[in-house]
Amino acid sequence: MTTREDVIWQNAAVAANYGVSRTAIPFVDMHFEVMHRLLDAADLEVTNLLDLGCGDGIVTTEVMRKQPVQQATLQDFSDPFLDAARARFEGADLDIAFVAGDFRENDWHAAITARGPFDLIASRFAIHHIPDEMKRALYEQVFRWLKPGGMFIQIEHVASATALYNRAYDKLMVDCLYAARGHEADYDEVYASYRDRADGGANILAPVWDQVQWLREIGFVDADCAFKCFELSVFAGRKPAQAEGIVS
Ligand SMILES: C[S@@+](CC[C@H](N)C(=O)[O-])C[C@H]1O[C@@H](n2cnc3c(N)ncnc32)[C@H](O)[C@@H]1O
Repeated sequence: MTTREDVIWQNAAVAANYGVSRTAIPFVDMHFEVMHRLLDAADLEVTNLLDLGCGDGIVTTEVMRKQPVQQATLQDFSDPFLDAARARFEGADLDIAFVAGDFRENDWHAAITARGPFDLIASRFAIHHIPDEMKRALYEQVFRWLKPGGMFIQIEHVASATALYNRAYDKLMVDCLYAARGHEADYDEVYASYRDRADGGANILAPVWDQVQWLREIGFVDADCAFKCFELSVFAGRKPAQAEGIVS
């Protein structure tokens, strides 16, 4: 049996620490801007949203900032993250459901199907924790869960093409972590803590171009990478509307 590293995300300390370290992720505002611009260009009104690997629900909050979301479904396999998401939306005027589910299993799929179909299925920095054949199978399921005309938007950590790009990405991350600490920490220590981070082994990165190709093969239209800098990307696809020849 192969050991899996993604379960590190079920650890409460790792979940709590992520809330701090993610503030250093570069281009976050741009990722969200690209997401909103894609929704605008598709003329998509998001009333029913699915947030896969939701963490504490930050993506749902961001979508709600600009879209008339009435129903949101947030899925994750980590109790500490789901608790944080519940706390974030406590008292919100929204039909909201939290679904505990492991991407590597499908016992949670029926709960999602019951809340669909969705205008938007969004995910950020989550699906890269599963092997490639499971990513592709999940994208097939995403296609089934979407309304005709609905969109899938992946803000995702993807593979570097060569070691050069990986070095550039790592340096960017360390510089951003260093800046987030006000340039006061010891740079070498920031580098060492990034290199030795607890969740580092949980990444199973796939090239963005492979993933866009999977979306096209599955039947998504308008599938493309809309943003990429080193290992950070935003890619998306749209389920064809009826008039475009719908696939079930
Ligand atoms: C880097 S965090 C991102 C969380 C959130 N989407 C955000 O943008 O802040 C990765 C998330 O993926 C979830 N995750 C990792 N592996 C998973 C799996 N096998 N099934 C479901 N969720 C998983 C983790 O619990 C965590 O919430």
